[in-house]
Amino acid sequence: MDIKQISRNIFKKRSLDDLIKTSDRSELKKTLNVFDLIVIGIGAVVGTGIFTIIGTAITGSSESAGAGPAIVISMVLAAVACVFPALCYSEIAAMIPVAGSAYTYTYATMGEFMAWMVGWILMLEYAIGNITVASAWTGYFIHFLSGFKHVLPSWVVNFPIWLRYDYKTMSEMCKAYGWDIHDKIPYLFGHIPVSINLPAVAIVFLLTILLVRGVKESTRVASIMVGVNMFMILSFIIVGSHYVVPENWLPFIPVAHPFQGIMMGAFLIFFAYIGFDAISTTAEETKNPQKDLPIAILGTLVICTVLYVCVALVLTGIVPVHSINVQAPIAHAMSKLPWFSKLIAIGALCALTSVLLIYQLGTTRILYAISRDRFLPRSWRAIHKKYKTPHVMTWISGIVVIVCGLFMDLNISAALCNFGTFTSFVIICLAVLILRKTEPNRHRPFKVPFCPWFPLAGIAICGILILFSLNTLKTSSVYFALWLLVGILIYAFYGYNQKRIEERGRIIKKG
Ligand code: ALA
Repeated sequence: MDIKQISRNIFKKRSLDDLIKTSDRSELKKTLNVFDLIVIGIGAVVGTGIFTIIGTAITGSSESAGAGPAIVISMVLAAVACVFPALCYSEIAAMIPVAGSAYTYTYATMGEFMAWMVGWILMLEYAIGNITVASAWTGYFIHFLSGFKHVLPSWVVNFPIWLRYDYKTMSEMCKAYGWDIHDKIPYLFGHIPVSINLPAVAIVFLLTILLVRGVKESTRVASIMVGVNMFMILSFIIVGSHYVVPENWLPFIPVAHPFQGIMMGAFLIFFAYIGFDAISTTAEETKNPQKDLPIAILGTLVICTVLYVCVALVLTGIVPVHSINVQAPIAHAMSKLPWFSKLIAIGALCALTSVLLIYQLGTTRILYAISRDRFLPRSWRAIHKKYKTPHVMTWISGIVVIVCGLFMDLNISAALCNFGTFTSFVIICLAVLILRKTEPNRHRPFKVPFCPWFPLAGIAICGILILFSLNTLKTSSVYFALWLLVGILIYAFYGYNQKRIEERGRIIKKG
């Protein structure tokens, strides 16, 4: 085997013109306007992070310290970590409006191997991120059902505990409450424990069906849910501010481990900001991508940052840090007004459902771009005759989330999702720097200001947060390394060869 040829192949780039031509031939319908994009953005961003993970980020966990009321500082840090990549996404998405987000941009700047790895890492963000959201969805669903205990039959409201949680969560709960796990869950053939998160499976299944029916239909559903969840968040800020006791904000900065608390808070709450990049995955379905993509990406980030800081101030002002609930912190904070607490649960369910919907949309659009380049089987990107959606891909991503969700828990999947997103952010900032050098004259409808300093700042902040968390979150770090290894193996044994077969086919055709 010729090593030089192999290294030439793995660094082979796709030209921007070629990418744009492929997108012009796209079979996906161009239906989305700037409003749809902002709905996709807010729908993808506001979810588990602000409704669930904020609790752990404030109080801490067995592996890390909490930020306390200084979660506000963590939030600003996380927002700053997002601003630079958001600017970079805006520049590239407007310049190369092609499906596939960071995957496609990497192909144009760093070659096929890095592109495949970025696509593979993006799966952590989108598909594994969806597992986190689906797990959190069940928590709020149970809270929601309990509000109907006088209306619904008891077997619905109190459905068995082994149909609510994955096995890992179930065993941790048994340990925490001193229960014997054998009394709580059934065993198949006397040996195989059965404990599944049934509501999560059901919601992912239903959303997959919706996505197969069409993007426009799905964003219409998402926009209703975004409306409800925005209304609930604003109501929480307004109603909750009347219950704030300023003493709860003291000490503002945690006395034990202040630095670790704030940094881990920033790493965890970063999950709440992930999603604005999902906007760029729908570039091929956008009517006016050059103008609308940057407005939607930056608009989403600004709206969400303002809302989050307000929510954090109100939450830590209402409840003392040590009493903050980690499963449904915002609904729980309003337990003095039970009806309002239930309404918040509805808002949270809407928020989580829209995140699930949009993440699955993102997963399929990235897989679509990857298989178009032959790194995954081409048959996966078949377009549905009637609905014009990549239905095979949509089902594959739905099934992956369902299957992985059966054995992964919320905290591990959230940390993995963060690792994946930070890595893709670093790459996107690098891609801007590379393209400024290699394509200096190409038309850029939007430009990152203060280049190269802003992209460099993005690389530094995201890089520091990754290194810091790799060092702290040991279990997730091991999973992250395994994920990268599996990606390398798939490329080495499948993607690389398929790409060469495609290239040979093209040469024969031309000849
Ligand atoms: N930002 C999204 C959420 O918090 C992933 O659920």
